[in-house]
Amino acid sequence: MKPHRTVSALSLTFILASSALAQTNWSAQQDHQNMMEQLGITSLRSGADGMNPQAANYQNTDEAKANPCPNLPDPLTLKDGAKVTTPELWWNRRRPEIMEDFDREMYGRVPAHVPKVTWEITRTTNEMDGTIPVLTRTLVGHVDNSGDPQITVDIQLTLSTPAHAAGPVPVMLEFGFGAFPGFARNRTNLARGFPGGGPRWQDEVSSNGWGHAVITPTSYQADNGAGLTKGIIGLCNHGHPRQPDDWGALRAWAWGASRALDYFETDKTVDAKKVGIEGLSRYGKAALVTMAYDQRFAVGFIGSSGEGGAKLSRRNWGELVENLTGQGEYHWMAGNFLKYGGPLHPCDLPVDAHELIALCAPRPTFISYGASSGQGAEGTWVDQRGSFMAAVAAGPVFRLLGKKDLGTTTMPEVNTPLIAGDLAWRQHSGGHTTGPNWPTFLQWANRYVQPAPAATP
Ligand code: GCU
Repeated sequence: MKPHRTVSALSLTFILASSALAQTNWSAQQDHQNMMEQLGITSLRSGADGMNPQAANYQNTDEAKANPCPNLPDPLTLKDGAKVTTPELWWNRRRPEIMEDFDREMYGRVPAHVPKVTWEITRTTNEMDGTIPVLTRTLVGHVDNSGDPQITVDIQLTLSTPAHAAGPVPVMLEFGFGAFPGFARNRTNLARGFPGGGPRWQDEVSSNGWGHAVITPTSYQADNGAGLTKGIIGLCNHGHPRQPDDWGALRAWAWGASRALDYFETDKTVDAKKVGIEGLSRYGKAALVTMAYDQRFAVGFIGSSGEGGAKLSRRNWGELVENLTGQGEYHWMAGNFLKYGGPLHPCDLPVDAHELIALCAPRPTFISYGASSGQGAEGTWVDQRGSFMAAVAAGPVFRLLGKKDLGTTTMPEVNTPLIAGDLAWRQHSGGHTTGPNWPTFLQWANRYVQPAPAATP
Protein backbone atom coordinates (compact mmCIF):
# COMPACT_ATOMS: atom_id res chain seq x y z
CA MET A 1 0.00 0.00 0.00
CA LYS A 2 1.26 3.48 -0.83
CA PRO A 3 2.03 5.69 2.17
CA HIS A 4 -0.69 8.26 2.61
CA ARG A 5 0.52 11.80 2.64
CA THR A 6 -1.31 14.90 3.68
CA VAL A 7 0.15 18.17 2.49
CA SER A 8 -0.58 21.29 4.47
CA ALA A 9 -0.92 24.63 2.70
CA LEU A 10 2.38 25.69 4.25
CA SER A 11 4.36 22.65 3.12
CA LEU A 12 2.73 22.86 -0.34
CA THR A 13 4.05 26.40 -0.64
CA PHE A 14 7.44 25.10 0.39
CA ILE A 15 7.39 22.24 -2.15
CA LEU A 16 6.38 24.60 -4.96
CA ALA A 17 9.00 27.15 -3.97
CA SER A 18 11.75 24.54 -3.79
CA SER A 19 10.79 22.95 -7.11
CA ALA A 20 10.87 26.42 -8.67
CA LEU A 21 14.28 26.93 -7.12
CA ALA A 22 15.39 23.57 -8.51
CA GLN A 23 15.16 24.99 -12.02
CA THR A 24 18.57 26.02 -13.25
CA ASN A 25 18.73 29.59 -14.46
CA TRP A 26 22.07 29.89 -16.15
CA SER A 27 23.38 32.21 -18.81
CA ALA A 28 24.43 30.59 -22.10
CA GLN A 29 28.03 31.05 -20.98
CA GLN A 30 27.43 29.15 -17.71
CA ASP A 31 25.53 26.37 -19.46
CA HIS A 32 28.21 26.07 -22.14
CA GLN A 33 30.91 25.90 -19.45
CA ASN A 34 28.94 23.22 -17.61
CA MET A 35 28.72 21.11 -20.78
CA MET A 36 32.49 21.46 -21.30
CA GLU A 37 33.00 20.24 -17.73
CA GLN A 38 30.64 17.29 -18.21
CA LEU A 39 32.75 16.34 -21.24
CA GLY A 40 36.12 17.05 -19.60
CA ILE A 41 36.95 19.68 -22.22
CA THR A 42 39.22 22.50 -21.11
CA SER A 43 39.46 24.51 -24.32
CA LEU A 44 37.79 24.81 -27.70
CA ARG A 45 39.21 26.12 -30.96
CA SER A 46 37.66 29.38 -32.11
CA GLY A 47 35.46 29.51 -35.18
CA ALA A 48 35.92 31.44 -38.40
CA ASP A 49 35.16 35.13 -38.71
CA GLY A 50 32.66 35.77 -41.47
CA MET A 51 32.76 39.56 -41.42
CA ASN A 52 36.26 40.97 -41.24
CA PRO A 53 38.63 40.00 -44.09
CA GLN A 54 41.54 41.41 -42.06
CA ALA A 55 40.93 38.99 -39.18
CA ALA A 56 43.50 36.20 -38.73
CA ASN A 57 40.67 33.66 -38.56
CA TYR A 58 38.71 35.09 -41.51
CA GLN A 59 36.68 32.35 -43.24
CA ASN A 60 38.55 30.29 -45.79
CA THR A 61 37.43 30.73 -49.39
CA ASP A 62 40.34 28.94 -51.05
CA GLU A 63 39.25 25.61 -52.57
CA ALA A 64 42.83 24.33 -52.33
CA LYS A 65 42.51 24.40 -48.52
CA ALA A 66 38.85 23.47 -48.28
CA ASN A 67 39.01 19.67 -48.08
CA PRO A 68 41.37 18.53 -45.32
CA CYS A 69 39.71 15.07 -45.24
CA PRO A 70 38.06 14.44 -48.61
CA ASN A 71 37.10 10.81 -47.88
CA LEU A 72 33.59 10.89 -46.50
CA PRO A 73 32.03 8.15 -44.35
CA ASP A 74 30.30 5.82 -46.83
CA PRO A 75 26.53 5.85 -46.33
CA LEU A 76 26.39 2.41 -47.94
CA THR A 77 29.00 0.60 -45.83
CA LEU A 78 27.95 -0.92 -42.51
CA LYS A 79 30.09 -0.38 -39.43
CA ASP A 80 31.26 -3.99 -39.75
CA GLY A 81 32.60 -3.22 -43.22
CA ALA A 82 29.89 -5.04 -45.21
CA LYS A 83 28.39 -3.25 -48.23
CA VAL A 84 24.76 -2.20 -48.25
CA THR A 85 23.47 -3.67 -51.50
CA THR A 86 19.71 -3.86 -50.90
CA PRO A 87 17.01 -1.49 -49.63
CA GLU A 88 16.37 -3.96 -46.79
CA LEU A 89 19.95 -3.61 -45.56
CA TRP A 90 19.58 0.16 -45.75
CA TRP A 91 16.32 0.29 -43.80
CA ASN A 92 17.10 -2.42 -41.26
CA ARG A 93 20.82 -1.98 -40.61
CA ARG A 94 22.54 1.05 -42.07
CA ARG A 95 19.92 3.76 -41.59
CA PRO A 96 19.59 2.97 -37.84
CA GLU A 97 23.41 3.06 -37.52
CA ILE A 98 23.55 6.52 -39.10
CA MET A 99 20.66 7.79 -36.98
CA GLU A 100 22.35 6.57 -33.81
CA ASP A 101 25.51 8.52 -34.71
CA PHE A 102 23.53 11.70 -35.46
CA ASP A 103 21.56 11.24 -32.23
CA ARG A 104 24.57 10.71 -30.00
CA GLU A 105 27.18 13.00 -31.56
CA MET A 106 25.39 15.79 -33.43
CA TYR A 107 21.74 16.61 -32.83
CA GLY A 108 20.97 14.72 -29.62
CA ARG A 109 18.23 12.31 -28.61
CA VAL A 110 14.58 13.16 -28.22
CA PRO A 111 13.60 11.85 -24.76
CA ALA A 112 11.58 8.63 -24.68
CA HIS A 113 8.65 10.37 -22.99
CA VAL A 114 7.89 13.87 -24.19
CA PRO A 115 4.67 15.31 -22.72
CA LYS A 116 1.58 15.35 -24.91
CA VAL A 117 0.51 18.35 -26.99
CA THR A 118 -3.14 19.45 -27.15
CA TRP A 119 -4.00 21.73 -30.05
CA GLU A 120 -6.45 24.58 -29.69
CA ILE A 121 -7.76 26.79 -32.50
CA THR A 122 -7.77 30.29 -31.03
CA ARG A 123 -8.94 32.22 -34.10
CA THR A 124 -10.35 31.55 -37.57
CA THR A 125 -10.30 34.23 -40.25
CA ASN A 126 -11.10 34.56 -43.94
CA GLU A 127 -8.19 36.09 -45.83
CA MET A 128 -6.98 36.59 -49.38
CA ASP A 129 -3.72 35.25 -50.79
CA GLY A 130 -3.64 37.57 -53.78
CA THR A 131 -6.89 36.63 -55.53
CA ILE A 132 -7.35 33.32 -53.71
CA PRO A 133 -9.60 33.19 -50.66
CA VAL A 134 -8.12 31.18 -47.82
CA LEU A 135 -9.27 30.10 -44.40
CA THR A 136 -6.65 30.85 -41.75
CA ARG A 137 -6.55 29.22 -38.37
CA THR A 138 -4.36 30.43 -35.53
CA LEU A 139 -3.45 27.56 -33.23
CA VAL A 140 -1.73 27.01 -29.93
CA GLY A 141 -0.26 23.63 -29.03
CA HIS A 142 -0.39 23.38 -25.25
CA VAL A 143 2.27 21.02 -23.94
CA ASP A 144 1.19 19.09 -20.83
CA ASN A 145 3.26 20.57 -18.02
CA SER A 146 1.40 18.99 -15.12
CA GLY A 147 4.71 17.46 -13.99
CA ASP A 148 6.46 20.85 -13.89
CA PRO A 149 3.91 23.68 -13.75
CA GLN A 150 6.64 26.32 -13.54
CA ILE A 151 7.62 25.60 -17.18
CA THR A 152 4.92 26.56 -19.70
CA VAL A 153 5.36 25.54 -23.33
CA ASP A 154 2.85 26.72 -25.96
CA ILE A 155 3.57 26.08 -29.64
CA GLN A 156 2.42 28.84 -32.02
CA LEU A 157 1.14 27.74 -35.43
CA THR A 158 -0.95 29.22 -38.23
CA LEU A 159 -2.54 27.22 -41.03
CA SER A 160 -4.18 28.58 -44.19
CA THR A 161 -5.94 26.42 -46.74
CA PRO A 162 -7.78 27.49 -49.90
CA ALA A 163 -11.41 28.23 -49.01
CA HIS A 164 -12.80 26.54 -52.15
CA ALA A 165 -10.68 23.41 -52.45
CA ALA A 166 -12.54 20.32 -53.61
CA GLY A 167 -10.80 18.16 -51.04
CA PRO A 168 -7.88 17.99 -48.64
CA VAL A 169 -4.84 19.95 -49.91
CA PRO A 170 -1.08 19.54 -49.66
CA VAL A 171 0.51 21.96 -47.18
CA MET A 172 3.93 23.57 -46.95
CA LEU A 173 4.96 24.11 -43.32
CA GLU A 174 7.56 26.82 -42.76
CA PHE A 175 9.71 27.42 -39.70
CA GLY A 176 8.90 31.11 -39.32
CA PHE A 177 10.92 33.96 -37.95
CA GLY A 178 7.76 35.95 -37.07
CA ALA A 179 6.77 35.83 -33.43
CA PHE A 180 3.23 37.21 -33.39
CA PRO A 181 -0.02 35.84 -34.77
CA GLY A 182 -0.90 37.78 -37.90
CA PHE A 183 2.63 39.07 -38.29
CA ALA A 184 3.54 36.68 -41.08
CA ARG A 185 0.62 37.88 -43.18
CA ASN A 186 0.78 41.58 -42.56
CA ARG A 187 4.44 42.21 -43.06
CA THR A 188 5.67 43.28 -46.45
CA ASN A 189 7.59 40.74 -48.39
CA LEU A 190 10.19 40.03 -45.70
CA ALA A 191 10.29 36.30 -46.34
CA ARG A 192 11.72 36.95 -49.78
CA GLY A 193 14.29 39.34 -48.38
CA PHE A 194 15.49 40.49 -51.77
CA PRO A 195 14.84 43.64 -53.73
CA GLY A 196 12.32 43.61 -56.51
CA GLY A 197 9.39 42.20 -54.58
CA GLY A 198 7.33 39.55 -56.35
CA PRO A 199 4.54 37.56 -54.80
CA ARG A 200 4.70 36.35 -51.24
CA TRP A 201 5.58 32.65 -50.97
CA GLN A 202 2.18 32.04 -49.42
CA ASP A 203 0.48 33.48 -52.53
CA GLU A 204 2.55 31.25 -54.79
CA VAL A 205 1.75 28.18 -52.74
CA SER A 206 -1.98 29.04 -52.70
CA SER A 207 -2.07 29.67 -56.44
CA ASN A 208 -0.71 26.12 -56.89
CA GLY A 209 -3.65 24.80 -54.89
CA TRP A 210 -1.63 24.09 -51.77
CA GLY A 211 -2.14 25.31 -48.23
CA HIS A 212 0.58 26.87 -46.10
CA ALA A 213 1.44 26.92 -42.43
CA VAL A 214 3.97 28.68 -40.24
CA ILE A 215 5.28 27.37 -36.94
CA THR A 216 7.25 29.62 -34.59
CA PRO A 217 10.15 27.53 -33.28
CA THR A 218 11.11 29.98 -30.54
CA SER A 219 7.64 29.65 -29.02
CA TYR A 220 8.63 26.19 -27.73
CA GLN A 221 12.44 26.29 -27.63
CA ALA A 222 14.43 29.50 -27.28
CA ASP A 223 17.22 30.21 -29.74
CA ASN A 224 19.93 30.48 -27.08
CA GLY A 225 21.82 28.42 -24.52
CA ALA A 226 20.18 30.11 -21.53
CA GLY A 227 16.88 28.63 -22.72
CA LEU A 228 18.01 25.00 -22.54
CA THR A 229 16.57 24.56 -19.04
CA LYS A 230 13.26 25.96 -20.29
CA GLY A 231 11.07 25.29 -23.31
CA ILE A 232 10.41 21.71 -24.35
CA ILE A 233 14.00 20.61 -23.63
CA GLY A 234 13.87 22.13 -20.13
CA LEU A 235 10.42 20.70 -19.46
CA CYS A 236 11.62 17.17 -20.26
CA ASN A 237 14.62 17.69 -17.95
CA HIS A 238 12.54 19.18 -15.12
CA GLY A 239 14.42 22.44 -15.46
CA HIS A 240 17.88 20.86 -15.14
CA PRO A 241 20.80 21.18 -17.59
CA ARG A 242 21.26 18.73 -20.46
CA GLN A 243 23.24 15.51 -20.51
CA PRO A 244 25.75 15.33 -23.41
CA ASP A 245 23.48 13.28 -25.67
CA ASP A 246 20.26 15.19 -24.95
CA TRP A 247 18.59 16.96 -27.84
CA GLY A 248 19.55 20.44 -28.96
CA ALA A 249 17.31 23.17 -30.35
CA LEU A 250 17.37 21.83 -33.94
CA ARG A 251 15.82 18.53 -32.89
CA ALA A 252 13.45 20.33 -30.55
CA TRP A 253 12.31 22.59 -33.37
CA ALA A 254 11.89 19.51 -35.58
CA TRP A 255 9.86 17.82 -32.83
CA GLY A 256 7.46 20.80 -32.90
CA ALA A 257 7.05 20.45 -36.68
CA SER A 258 6.12 16.80 -36.12
CA ARG A 259 3.51 17.85 -33.57
CA ALA A 260 2.08 20.31 -36.14
CA LEU A 261 1.86 17.39 -38.56
CA ASP A 262 -0.01 15.42 -35.86
CA TYR A 263 -2.55 18.25 -35.88
CA PHE A 264 -2.74 18.29 -39.70
CA GLU A 265 -3.60 14.58 -39.57
CA THR A 266 -6.77 15.54 -37.69
CA ASP A 267 -7.71 18.49 -39.93
CA LYS A 268 -10.04 17.59 -42.80
CA THR A 269 -8.81 20.42 -45.05
CA VAL A 270 -5.25 19.00 -45.08
CA ASP A 271 -3.91 16.01 -47.00
CA ALA A 272 -1.48 14.97 -44.27
CA LYS A 273 0.31 12.54 -46.61
CA LYS A 274 1.41 15.57 -48.66
CA VAL A 275 2.92 17.91 -46.10
CA GLY A 276 6.27 19.51 -46.85
CA ILE A 277 8.73 21.30 -44.59
CA GLU A 278 10.66 24.47 -45.44
CA GLY A 279 13.05 26.71 -43.57
CA LEU A 280 15.90 29.13 -44.09
CA SER A 281 19.31 29.29 -42.46
CA ARG A 282 19.12 27.95 -38.88
CA TYR A 283 15.58 26.94 -39.78
CA GLY A 284 16.93 25.37 -42.98
CA LYS A 285 19.03 23.15 -40.71
CA ALA A 286 15.88 22.43 -38.66
CA ALA A 287 13.94 21.64 -41.86
CA LEU A 288 16.58 19.12 -42.93
CA VAL A 289 16.60 17.51 -39.47
CA THR A 290 12.78 17.35 -39.54
CA MET A 291 12.75 15.74 -42.97
CA ALA A 292 15.51 13.28 -42.02
CA TYR A 293 13.86 12.08 -38.81
CA ASP A 294 10.11 12.17 -39.49
CA GLN A 295 9.30 10.09 -42.53
CA ARG A 296 5.73 11.37 -42.60
CA PHE A 297 6.99 14.60 -44.22
CA ALA A 298 6.50 14.13 -47.94
CA VAL A 299 8.87 16.76 -49.32
CA GLY A 300 11.64 19.06 -48.06
CA PHE A 301 12.72 22.55 -49.13
CA ILE A 302 16.02 23.19 -47.38
CA GLY A 303 17.04 26.87 -47.57
CA SER A 304 20.62 28.07 -47.07
CA SER A 305 21.18 25.64 -44.22
CA GLY A 306 25.00 25.73 -44.27
CA GLU A 307 27.03 24.40 -41.34
CA GLY A 308 25.06 21.91 -39.24
CA GLY A 309 22.67 21.54 -42.20
CA ALA A 310 23.37 20.43 -45.77
CA LYS A 311 27.02 21.57 -45.81
CA LEU A 312 29.75 18.98 -45.20
CA SER A 313 31.10 19.65 -41.70
CA ARG A 314 34.47 18.32 -42.84
CA ARG A 315 34.87 21.26 -45.20
CA ASN A 316 37.09 24.15 -44.27
CA TRP A 317 35.05 26.86 -45.96
CA GLY A 318 32.86 29.65 -44.57
CA GLU A 319 31.26 28.72 -41.28
CA LEU A 320 32.94 25.89 -39.36
CA VAL A 321 32.08 23.26 -36.77
CA GLU A 322 34.07 25.48 -34.39
CA ASN A 323 31.46 28.24 -34.85
CA LEU A 324 28.69 25.83 -33.90
CA THR A 325 30.52 24.71 -30.77
CA GLY A 326 30.83 28.30 -29.47
CA GLN A 327 28.51 29.90 -26.93
CA GLY A 328 26.28 31.53 -29.53
CA GLU A 329 25.27 28.38 -31.44
CA TYR A 330 26.07 25.24 -29.40
CA HIS A 331 22.47 25.06 -28.18
CA TRP A 332 21.40 23.98 -31.69
CA MET A 333 23.34 20.75 -31.23
CA ALA A 334 23.81 17.94 -28.69
CA GLY A 335 26.39 18.67 -25.98
CA ASN A 336 28.58 15.87 -27.38
CA PHE A 337 29.10 17.94 -30.53
CA LEU A 338 31.38 20.26 -28.53
CA LYS A 339 34.07 17.55 -28.65
CA TYR A 340 34.59 18.18 -32.37
CA GLY A 341 35.59 21.79 -31.68
CA GLY A 342 38.41 20.44 -29.45
CA PRO A 343 39.93 18.00 -28.55
CA LEU A 344 38.53 16.16 -31.63
CA HIS A 345 38.40 17.52 -35.18
CA PRO A 346 35.49 17.79 -37.66
CA CYS A 347 37.25 15.01 -39.63
CA ASP A 348 36.58 12.72 -36.63
CA LEU A 349 32.81 13.01 -36.99
CA PRO A 350 31.37 9.51 -37.59
CA VAL A 351 28.71 11.01 -39.90
CA ASP A 352 28.40 14.06 -42.13
CA ALA A 353 25.81 16.13 -43.98
CA HIS A 354 25.55 13.80 -46.97
CA GLU A 355 24.17 11.16 -44.62
CA LEU A 356 21.61 13.55 -43.17
CA ILE A 357 20.41 14.22 -46.73
CA ALA A 358 20.46 10.45 -47.34
CA LEU A 359 18.08 9.95 -44.39
CA CYS A 360 15.51 11.96 -46.39
CA ALA A 361 15.59 9.41 -49.22
CA PRO A 362 13.52 8.30 -51.04
CA ARG A 363 11.34 11.37 -50.36
CA PRO A 364 11.85 14.36 -52.68
CA THR A 365 14.34 16.83 -51.23
CA PHE A 366 15.21 20.24 -52.71
CA ILE A 367 18.38 22.00 -51.57
CA SER A 368 18.32 25.76 -52.03
CA TYR A 369 20.93 28.48 -51.83
CA GLY A 370 21.56 32.04 -52.94
CA ALA A 371 24.59 32.96 -54.99
CA SER A 372 28.01 33.12 -53.36
CA SER A 373 29.04 36.27 -55.25
CA GLY A 374 27.57 39.11 -57.25
CA GLN A 375 25.32 42.01 -56.36
CA GLY A 376 22.93 41.22 -53.51
CA ALA A 377 24.37 37.71 -53.23
CA GLU A 378 24.28 35.52 -50.15
CA GLY A 379 28.05 35.23 -49.81
CA THR A 380 30.33 32.33 -49.01
CA TRP A 381 29.51 31.70 -45.31
CA VAL A 382 26.94 28.97 -46.10
CA ASP A 383 29.36 27.00 -48.36
CA GLN A 384 27.21 26.32 -51.40
CA ARG A 385 29.82 24.00 -52.92
CA GLY A 386 30.21 21.98 -49.71
CA SER A 387 26.43 21.48 -49.76
CA PHE A 388 26.43 20.48 -53.41
CA MET A 389 29.16 17.92 -52.62
CA ALA A 390 27.01 16.56 -49.78
CA ALA A 391 24.00 16.24 -52.10
CA VAL A 392 26.14 14.39 -54.66
CA ALA A 393 27.42 12.03 -51.95
CA ALA A 394 23.84 11.33 -50.80
CA GLY A 395 23.00 10.21 -54.35
CA PRO A 396 23.86 6.49 -53.98
CA VAL A 397 21.21 6.11 -51.27
CA PHE A 398 18.50 7.68 -53.45
CA ARG A 399 19.55 5.37 -56.28
CA LEU A 400 19.57 2.29 -54.04
CA LEU A 401 15.96 3.13 -53.13
CA GLY A 402 15.00 3.37 -56.80
CA LYS A 403 15.07 7.16 -57.05
CA LYS A 404 16.98 9.66 -59.19
CA ASP A 405 19.73 11.70 -57.61
CA LEU A 406 21.14 15.01 -58.91
CA GLY A 407 22.34 13.20 -62.02
CA THR A 408 25.67 15.04 -62.17
CA THR A 409 28.76 15.75 -60.12
CA THR A 410 29.29 19.14 -61.79
CA MET A 411 27.95 22.09 -59.86
CA PRO A 412 25.62 24.05 -62.16
CA GLU A 413 25.67 27.78 -62.77
CA VAL A 414 23.59 30.05 -60.57
CA ASN A 415 19.90 30.00 -61.67
CA THR A 416 20.37 26.65 -63.46
CA PRO A 417 18.12 24.19 -61.65
CA LEU A 418 18.83 20.48 -61.24
CA ILE A 419 15.25 19.28 -60.96
CA ALA A 420 15.13 16.13 -63.10
CA GLY A 421 15.53 13.90 -60.04
CA ASP A 422 14.06 13.29 -56.62
CA LEU A 423 17.00 15.09 -55.12
CA ALA A 424 17.02 18.64 -56.47
CA TRP A 425 19.35 21.63 -56.29
CA ARG A 426 19.16 25.29 -57.24
CA GLN A 427 21.15 28.39 -56.42
CA HIS A 428 19.25 31.59 -57.18
CA SER A 429 21.04 34.85 -57.86
CA GLY A 430 19.64 36.59 -54.78
CA GLY A 431 20.67 36.68 -51.15
CA HIS A 432 19.96 34.83 -47.92
CA THR A 433 16.38 33.76 -48.69
CA THR A 434 14.41 30.93 -50.25
CA GLY A 435 12.16 33.49 -51.99
CA PRO A 436 13.38 33.31 -55.61
CA ASN A 437 13.46 29.50 -55.50
CA TRP A 438 9.78 29.02 -54.61
CA PRO A 439 8.51 28.90 -58.24
CA THR A 440 11.15 26.30 -59.19
CA PHE A 441 10.51 24.34 -56.02
CA LEU A 442 6.76 24.22 -56.70
CA GLN A 443 7.25 23.28 -60.35
CA TRP A 444 9.38 20.33 -59.21
CA ALA A 445 7.27 19.42 -56.17
CA ASN A 446 4.00 19.40 -58.15
CA ARG A 447 5.35 16.28 -59.88
CA TYR A 448 5.08 14.44 -56.59
CA VAL A 449 2.37 16.27 -54.74
CA GLN A 450 -0.69 16.84 -56.89
CA PRO A 451 -3.17 19.23 -55.31
CA ALA A 452 -6.90 18.45 -55.49
CA PRO A 453 -8.65 20.45 -58.23
CA ALA A 454 -10.26 23.65 -57.01
CA ALA A 455 -14.01 23.55 -56.60
CA THR A 456 -16.18 26.21 -58.21
CA PRO A 457 -16.97 28.71 -55.49
C1 GCU B 1 24.49 32.73 -38.65
C2 GCU B 1 25.00 31.35 -38.41
C3 GCU B 1 24.42 30.36 -39.39
C4 GCU B 1 22.93 30.47 -39.41
C5 GCU B 1 22.52 31.90 -39.66
C6 GCU B 1 21.03 32.16 -39.60
O1 GCU B 1 24.98 33.21 -39.85
O2 GCU B 1 26.39 31.37 -38.47
O3 GCU B 1 24.79 29.04 -39.06
O4 GCU B 1 22.38 29.61 -40.38
O5 GCU B 1 23.09 32.72 -38.67
O6 GCU B 1 20.27 31.37 -39.09
O7 GCU B 1 20.62 33.23 -40.05
